[in-house]
Amino acid sequence: MPIQYHKSSQTFHLYNQKISYIFKVLKNQQLGQLYYGKRVNDREDFDHLFETIQRPMAPCAFEGDLTFSLEHIKQEYPAYGSGDMRHPAMDIIQENGSHIVHFTYQQHQIIAGKPSLENLPATYVENNQEATTLLITLFDEVIQTKIILSYTIYEDLAVITRNAYCQNCGSQNLILNQMMSMSLDLPDKDYEMIELTGAWSRERHIQNRKLEHGIQSIYSLRGCSSNNFNPFIALKRPMCNEYEGEVLGFSLVYSGNFLAQVEVDTYNVSRVTMGIHPHAFTWPLNPGESFQTPEVVMVYSNCGLNQMSQTYHELYQKRLARGQYRDQVRPILVNNWEGTYFDFNEEKILGIAKTAQKLGIELFVLDDGWFGQRNSDNAGLGDWYPNLEKLPEGISGLSQKIVDLGMRFGIWFEPEMVNKDSDLYRTHPEWTLETPNRHTSHGRNQYVLDFSNPEVVEYIYNMMAKVIEESHITYIKWDMNRCMSEVYSYVHSAQDQGKVMHEYILGVYHLYDKLTTKFPEILFESCASGGARFDPGMLYYAPQCWTSDDTDAIERLKIQYGTSLVYPISSMGAHVSAVPNHQVFRKTPLQTRANVAYFGTFGYELDLNKLSCEEQNEIKEQVQFMKTYREVIQFGTFYRLKSPFEGNETVWMVVSKDQNTAIVGYYRPLQEVNQGYRRVKLMGLDPDKEYHVSIHDIDCYGDELMNAGLITSDSSCGENKDGDGDYLSRLYLLKAK
Ligand code: DGJ
Repeated sequence: MPIQYHKSSQTFHLYNQKISYIFKVLKNQQLGQLYYGKRVNDREDFDHLFETIQRPMAPCAFEGDLTFSLEHIKQEYPAYGSGDMRHPAMDIIQENGSHIVHFTYQQHQIIAGKPSLENLPATYVENNQEATTLLITLFDEVIQTKIILSYTIYEDLAVITRNAYCQNCGSQNLILNQMMSMSLDLPDKDYEMIELTGAWSRERHIQNRKLEHGIQSIYSLRGCSSNNFNPFIALKRPMCNEYEGEVLGFSLVYSGNFLAQVEVDTYNVSRVTMGIHPHAFTWPLNPGESFQTPEVVMVYSNCGLNQMSQTYHELYQKRLARGQYRDQVRPILVNNWEGTYFDFNEEKILGIAKTAQKLGIELFVLDDGWFGQRNSDNAGLGDWYPNLEKLPEGISGLSQKIVDLGMRFGIWFEPEMVNKDSDLYRTHPEWTLETPNRHTSHGRNQYVLDFSNPEVVEYIYNMMAKVIEESHITYIKWDMNRCMSEVYSYVHSAQDQGKVMHEYILGVYHLYDKLTTKFPEILFESCASGGARFDPGMLYYAPQCWTSDDTDAIERLKIQYGTSLVYPISSMGAHVSAVPNHQVFRKTPLQTRANVAYFGTFGYELDLNKLSCEEQNEIKEQVQFMKTYREVIQFGTFYRLKSPFEGNETVWMVVSKDQNTAIVGYYRPLQEVNQGYRRVKLMGLDPDKEYHVSIHDIDCYGDELMNAGLITSDSSCGENKDGDGDYLSRLYLLKAK
């Protein structure tokens, strides 16, 4: 039984072969945290781990007892104001204006499996043996309100998921001012906090900082999870590296505003809090009403960051993503965006598609510009019907012609947005988010539709469904190109305006849910100006995401490396684009562009007809290579070997599940002169299997490659075909004999 309840000590112990998570009911009936980390033996009580010391000036709960103070007790779901001065997990305003609550243990339930969350994405199980869930009910007698804390432990993974649910069972009108998904008090502060930070076109760069007293946090208040910070943090021990040492990962399955915070108190307790950002959130909780938080996925590793990532990859690939594409290799596509931008007609599109088909590409994706009066980014969003001047036979005619070529057809939508110059806006100006009597900011000339209004979501669904039903669409790129501002919804009362940003995201999830249910054969790729909504919430509906608008191979090294900290290779949209690159104007060899893009869902984003015969032939070979090895790349085990954040070389590799095939990607952006010898120790091979190593054309045992290493030294005259020595890359293919 992976969850034990020890009645005599009122202790809960969640454990599997890898981890233990222990907490108990304290003498004031609140929950106290005792341990989270590597698995320890079970025992009847762990009371010795409960630390209290008499601390001068601390507010104490019991008369005659100077030690029991919430000021310094490690807790599970703390509230502010009854001794604890730290930031709380929840904040409830009552009719008398008070924020003071006292949630005490009422009952618990241990169930096989993992219940789903209503209207919210979450990890899941396929049979009830895969996980066990503990549901603990806490109750506040004064306001007659319950909180249910949910903990799921997976059977074979170092994973615990958490969420919280609150229900007003009394007669007061309450306001939830804050309701976080989790809170965890760790007994020391000897950690570095890792976060994924960035901006448009430099998403998810890895950043580290040492925990200090006070608060360190990352967040989004942009209405989407954002490219500034990803909803993920990890706390690693200072000596922890990719393959050694302890690290705790926290990842929020949510696509809107979030807060991930670590508060280190004066006694060195580190309180991790994660959930919906309390700013711009107020949720009236009237009698009978309830609120469900999103889920946090906690991963533990005592073998470094790479093991943490592999756990996230496995879980997110197999038990977060859903649908028929979850287990399928992804189609190799060509997308016309960087090839044509808005300047296309049917002839041009078919011209690219015909060449793509000859080169072995499987899917043609028609990007922005096919609908309404969309000839620039000034107009058309919201008018989801084909522009017949560009496409005389509409999407149905074009898609039929592409299918006749033997290819699949995919299309771009930006469902959440509207331009003022559109029929939709002219008919329904009240459907945008805007604050009465205030100026409304635009972003890329567009405005945000009020997805907290079910009528809007239904209308957009019907428009999209019509296009889909009339055509042969097997792929949809769902874009979202601005963050929210002046948020206010005309369909909500004044008291309910604090619900709008969360309800907007629920509206997005609802539309995804309707579309994926009605059209299960469609592969969705999420996108938000590249990777501004690359988060686990999106992955539940769309198993892949456009990683970044930056398609430069060298820039992509950092972006894809950082993204791999949490997200699997099968989720990362990666394309070969033209040179000079459209974002940084760099000219990298076609080979290097492919060698980077292979480690993703792979495709092309250029006008194939502008390439030379030589280049087209090279692409044909690349496509063939990817068809042969995409199963290994997208579903194998991924290892980071050398970081682009630490030097001039990046190395990563994938190993097939049967350990018979491995592919090592080696990248050296800048040529160097007369450098020393270099080796890289490989990972994940079978030590006793003999592998043939391409490029060197030698046979080596796995143990030699993992211990002596793979030689990557190169001569200073370079081997880059384009002759300048920079932007070199190599793929080493290892095959067991
Ligand atoms: C932003 C996306 O990231 C691009 O790939 C492209 O689809 C454009 N939007 C189209 O407007």
